[in-house]
This record gives sequence, structure tokens and C-alpha cells, in this order.
Amino acid sequence: VTVGAVTIGGLFAWLWTDASVSTVGKASFNNALAIPPLAESHVEKDGTRVFDLRMQAGETEFEAGRKTPTWGFNGTYLGPTLRAERGEKVRVRIRNGLDEASSVHWHGMHLPAEMDGGPHQEIAAGGTWSPQWTVDQPAATLWYHPHPHGATEDHVQRGLAGMFLLDDERSARLALPKRYGVDDLPVVVQDVRFDGARLDGGRGFLQNVGFLGDRTMVNGTLRPYREVADELIRLRLLNASTARTYAFGFPDDRSFSLVGTDGGLLERPVSQTRVQLSPGERAEIVVRMRADERVMLRSFPQDNYGDGWQRRFGGGDDSFDVLELRAAGRLRPSPDLPTVLGKLEIPDGADAVRGRFFELRRSGINGRSMDMGRVDETVTRGTTEVWTVRNDNGMPHNFHVHDVQFRVLEVNGAAPPPALRGPKDTVFVPHGTTMKLALRFTGPADPDTPYMYHCHLLYHEDEGMMGQFVVVEKGQRAGAPSGHAGPG
Ligand code: C2O
Ligand code: CU
Repeated sequence: VTVGAVTIGGLFAWLWTDASVSTVGKASFNNALAIPPLAESHVEKDGTRVFDLRMQAGETEFEAGRKTPTWGFNGTYLGPTLRAERGEKVRVRIRNGLDEASSVHWHGMHLPAEMDGGPHQEIAAGGTWSPQWTVDQPAATLWYHPHPHGATEDHVQRGLAGMFLLDDERSARLALPKRYGVDDLPVVVQDVRFDGARLDGGRGFLQNVGFLGDRTMVNGTLRPYREVADELIRLRLLNASTARTYAFGFPDDRSFSLVGTDGGLLERPVSQTRVQLSPGERAEIVVRMRADERVMLRSFPQDNYGDGWQRRFGGGDDSFDVLELRAAGRLRPSPDLPTVLGKLEIPDGADAVRGRFFELRRSGINGRSMDMGRVDETVTRGTTEVWTVRNDNGMPHNFHVHDVQFRVLEVNGAAPPPALRGPKDTVFVPHGTTMKLALRFTGPADPDTPYMYHCHLLYHEDEGMMGQFVVVEKGQRAGAPSGHAGPG
């Protein structure tokens, strides 16, 4: 291993080289995939569904006989899958059992700013926080993770992340695979490195894009396989990695049906052979299995990745075997997928009242580094806006907006590809890309509590690629958010 520092175009980069690493076709996948348990909950008299999450430190044995310190929710690594229905009131009682402050953000959830779990809703070490809100959005695969100011990458990487699934009347009716853990599988993908037995979040692996691991885990399982016994298998893919982007597909290039994006189902299933996910993005795909086969979910090299950061640093040829599906000798027949999944509930921008521009740079968004005491943008409740996001920064970024599911209107002046036509809250913005997004802010208004927008490459986020917006009533002015994380 050689380590050196160079300056490229004014950017300071730690260069690190290593023998080429690629897991493709090399390792046997012999560990049974862990399926995060569905979180227990109880329903109170007023109908509120109540969950309990405890953030805790512990030790995890990713490989037999090798323990390593990790963090988790209600366990030692990752967290249970929360699940609720549209229209339901939910409360999550969180206890921070760590010895440092953190927070829990509901990524993709439409909810009041003070329930959002961003840096302003910090939970002190040993403290508690019990946000509640009414689920008011379509069925979707959302997730939750910490969002403490400047330490998000570290907290997620230690293991704090979980899925939050939403259901609605339509998703209950549709003939989609929906038996959790049977034909409907959560697939939480993270790249990791080990230093001996120790799970290594080493800053030594930080490149300009952040940490890049040399192997992947799914649901905290290394080299995982899953036995399946249905013709159609739905995979809820979540890129929970801190910096790495994947392009998922199968080695025989079979097509699969993309049925959902970040914030819910598409209008109709779209046949694809690859789906690219940058950190924080989700996709729901349905793949058809043949009896007795073994098929690998693989991440392939990405030709829109610009200068090939991942290829040169820590990813070898940038290919990863991710999860082996092993089909039974006889498969339960699955009904054909519906040709229509439903109507999109995302704005088309036709009624936009204003536009805004966001220049993505490693040093900050629109030339400003994150300041918790500054409101960068003020939007009016009940209005639609078109946001133009540009990356001309020579490295990959993505763009995530709290509280809303937006529509991608344009990518470099053209209509977006099918994978970007569903509800989105996070979008990959490679170098040389300008995107137009339509967002609708339905409130409630709270001039004093900001939501975040940021690059979801967590190293970039922590280093200041984040801004704050508030939602106000027409004519109202933004308040002054406290410049530091609150008591929770
Ligand atoms: Cu997934 Cu602001 O975060
Ligand atoms: Cu970035």
C-alpha cells in the first residue's frame, strides 16, 4: 500500500493505491442473508402506532469468531424495519444509548421540520426524543439514519441505519410480491473494509468522494445468499453506503422490472437491465427466477461516473458481487405484474411560482459552507418550485432534499431516463450534469426550523455541502434558527 498526497486542480486529494480488488466471481457466497426484523409496535387508544428505537454500541461478528465494535438500533448493527400505513399517526420513542450526541432522520418522509431528525433535533448522549407525525404520502421504501452535524458519515458507517416501509390502499391491492422476507426482500447495501477483524471506518480510505470500501455487505451480511421459492422476487434496494455508487444488474444481463424509486411506485413497471443508485437512493425491482438457478445481484462498472474515482480507488474494476439468489427446484407461481401501478403524486412544475439554482461544489453549495444558524432558502407553503442543480466540479455529487418527493424534469436539457421518472428525494448528479427538479412544499409552515438539502456523499455533507430551507406562510419571513444543535 502506498499513500501520497497530490493536488489536482486545486483540490487536495489523498491518493491511495492497492492491489486491484474486485469480488466478482471470486468468492463463494455462503452466508445466509440476514433479514432485519419488522419493528414491534403497539397502537394507542387514539390510533397512534408507537415504535421504540434504542441506539446502542456493541460488537458484531461479521465473520465467525471475529468480533468488531459496531453501533445499531435495538441490536448491534443496523436496525429493524419500521412499517406504517398512509394516514396512520406514528410516534417513535428513541433513546440514545451511545456516549455521544446523535439524531435520527426519516429520509424521504414528508413531516413537520421539528420531527425531521436533522442536525437541529440532536439527541444528547443518554437522552430521548419522541417525534410523531401522520404518514401522508404514498407507499414507499424509506429509511432512517443519524444526521448529527458533522458526524453523519461516522454514525452511519458504524451501523446506524434501517428501513422504513410505507404501505397504502393501492399497494395493498396491487399484485406485487409483498411477503416481507419471503418474496419481498430488504436489500441494504453498504461497502466496508476490515482491518483484521475490525470494521474500519478509517479516514485513511477517504478520497475526495469519501470512504470507499473494498467489499459489500447486504443487511450486515458479508457474501450473502438467500434461498427463494417464488417466481417473482421483489428487491427493495437501498444504497446505504456513505460514498459509493452502484449500478445493479445481473451477470446474464436479464431484464428486471423497475417498479419503484425513492418515494414510491412508478406509473407502470419499466423493463431495465441496470439500475444505478448513489448514496441514499432506493429502487424497487422485481426479478423473475428460474427453478434451480443461482443468480448473483451484481454491481457493474458505471460509464457515467466521470473520472472513475471508484475504479481507481478502492474498487478495483468497480464491480461487486452483492447477493446470490438461490431458487428452489420448484417455484410458487407468481401473478403477472400489473401493467399499471397507479398515478404519480409528484408535481410536474407547470404551476411553479419560482426557480432556484444550486451549484454543487465540494466546498459548499452555491459557494456557502453549511451554517446551522443561516437560512439559505425560504419557500412558501403550498407552492411549487423548479430547482436547477448543477455539478461542474470534476467529481461526483448527489442532491437530497428533505421533506419532499420531487420530479426530475430534465437531465442536461433532455427528458429523464425511466429510472428517474418516479418520486425522488435523492438524485445522482455526475460531473457535467445540470438537472431540473419540480418540488412542491405542502408544509406545515415553520419559519424557525429548517429542513436540509445536501450532497448525500456523507463525507461531503459533513464537510459542509449542505444548506437549509424553511417553509413559511405566504408573506412570512424566515426566523432565526439556533446556530447549534438543540437539546432534542
Ligand atoms: Cu439521508 Cu439529510 O439525509
Ligand atoms: Cu458531494
